[in-house]
Formats: sequence, structure tokens, C-alpha cells
Amino acid sequence: MWLCASIRSMSSGGAFIPPRQFFTIKTIWPPLAVKDALKEAKVTMTSIDGVAFTRGPGMPGCLGVGMNAAKTLASSLNKPLVGVHHMQAHALTPMLTSSQAPEFPFLALMISGGHTMILLASSETSFELLANTADVSIGNAFDKVSRELGLPWTDAAHRNVVGAGPMLEKVAEEHASISSCDTPAFPVPMRGRLAFSYGGLMSSVQRHVANLKGNGPLRRDTQSSIAYSFQVAAIDQLREKLSLALDLCRRRSTTITTVVISGGVASNKYLRSRLENFLGHRQLAVHYPPPSLCTDNAAMIGWASMQRFLLGDCDPYTIRLKPAWPITELQGSH
Ligand code: KG4
Ligand code: ZN
Repeated sequence: MWLCASIRSMSSGGAFIPPRQFFTIKTIWPPLAVKDALKEAKVTMTSIDGVAFTRGPGMPGCLGVGMNAAKTLASSLNKPLVGVHHMQAHALTPMLTSSQAPEFPFLALMISGGHTMILLASSETSFELLANTADVSIGNAFDKVSRELGLPWTDAAHRNVVGAGPMLEKVAEEHASISSCDTPAFPVPMRGRLAFSYGGLMSSVQRHVANLKGNGPLRRDTQSSIAYSFQVAAIDQLREKLSLALDLCRRRSTTITTVVISGGVASNKYLRSRLENFLGHRQLAVHYPPPSLCTDNAAMIGWASMQRFLLGDCDPYTIRLKPAWPITELQGSH
């Protein structure tokens, strides 16, 4: 049994979110998160064999909360401690959740609030970076555009936090029922280059919205039409860059049969269907974690720690955070 209580971070989009609206005390107070995790799993502390936590990359303040809780637990229980790489955990989640685990080597499209990358995964610890974002992440763009459109973060009853990205997806879905789309198509940047850029798309949407706002608040069908056009452009870019990465692997004679898509943005249903379609046509298997395990969660951290834990390769209680930790430096960096 391996304990990894999830403490949600405030890193999404770099925005300030009033805690009263967004976080219950449970999510910011580790002892309660741990208590709930044990209760849900129907186990007691005595059956815990080790403690895992996210060591990096990420915001030091958020990472520190999890690390200190993990260190305190592990040292007081005299249990092994393992610090995990956040993006490695996202990339390996389908090995836990898919009925047929993806086989190495595979391509991993990592799309979250902090990252937009295509990795070539050769083993659990060996990742080559094939494409990265030149500016902001796709998750950041979803969050900023959602705010720009003035979409709320909570559901209509203000009871549940839906989040900026998921709210944009929800509003874009309404567009399917609107026959005319009066929003211009937003272009895919850096065509032919194996690199992402979401800064230009974000600015184009911002400019478009600013022009329309001159005529008063945006109508719901306009919000929906812009959200739809933005999603199409954001996903077209993922498609093109995946295609370039597959071409590169082919030129290198690296046989790829599987693509793993993970990170918070991978829970977007429209994105899933578009990419499944595209990759399916190329006879590639696509693995996504279920939506609840696409966004940050404790299960993926526990799973990613397992290999080291089973080998008895654990970290000292004095281990430090790695807020900047390229995934390409994972091997041998413990
Ligand atoms: O992986 P994650 O939970 O945290 C980071 O590691 O950053 O990803 C969070 C990001 C946020 O930008 C959030 O708005 C976005 O994932 N996201 C979505 C959806 N669900 C979460 N974006 C678009 N559509 C969604 N359904
Ligand atoms: Zn994440």
C-alpha cells in the first residue's frame, strides 16, 4: 500500500482564484486529505508501505506543501519516501488505466496547464523531447480564452467548480446546434515546424473579443462560436505537430504503434474524438487515462513511484524540490 494524498495546486493559468470560491479546506489542508484518502481506500496507516509526492516541476509553494506533508508522514512512520516527476506521472498513467498497457517506444502528447510537449518514451524513465511550446501551454490558452469570454468557473448553481478549460469546452459544445459560425478561423502557427505556440492564438482571440465587446457584452451564441473556433484551432495544431513527430520517427526508423495523450486538457471530449479519428486513420492505438485521471491526481503519482519503490530505490528524508526539472533529465537524477 502506497500513500499519495492529492493536494490540488493553484498553478492553472497562473490566475489568482479566491480560495473561498475554489478550494474547500480539505484540498489545502494535507491532514484532512490524508484522512479522507485512507477512509476512501478503507485502510489504516499501519498498512501503508511508503509515501510518494510530486517533487517537480511546478510552483515551489504548491510543491512544498505536498513534500512537507509526505516527509512528515514517511519519517514519523519510518517508511520509504519517493519524489516523483509530475510529467512522467502523466505519461505513465495509461499503463495503470489501459486494459492493454502501451508498449515502448510510444509517443506521449502531454497537454496540461504547464506543458505542451510531444515526448518519445523509450522506457519508464527515458524520454526524448520532440516538440515543446515556444510560449504558453495549451491549458493556459484554454484558461485565458475562457476568462476573456467572461465564462464562469462554477456551474449554474455555483455549487461545483467546473474550471475554466472545462467551461470553455461546455460552451463550445452549444455551437454544434448553431448553424452559422460568425467567428473567423484562427490559423495554426509555425506550420511545418516541430514546435507549439499558443501565444498567437490567445492574442488573436483576445483582439477579436475586444473588438466585439465595443458593442456591449458578448451574447451566449457569440461566446459559443468563439469558443468553438478556438478549440478547432488549438486541436488542429496538436494534429499537425503529432503528424510531424510521426514523420520524424519514421525517418529515424523508430516504429511507433501507440500514442499516449495525457494531462488536464486531454479530458476534453471534443479533442479526444478529433485526435482518435486522426490517429485511428493512421492505424495507431491511442491511450488516454479516464478524464478524472487526466487532470492532476494522486493515483498517477503513486503509480509512477512504484518502480523505484519496488527496487528499494528511495529518496532520503532530506530530499529537495526540483521546481524546474526537464523530463529529459529524469534518468539517473534521483
Ligand atoms: O494536468 P493538469 O490538471 O494540471 C497541470 O499539470 O497543469 O491540467 C490543468 C489544465 C488547466 O489549464 C485546465 O483548464 C485544463 O487542464 N483542462 C481542460 C479541460 N479540463 C482541464 N482544458 C480543456 N478542456 C477540458 N475539459
Ligand atoms: Zn498535471
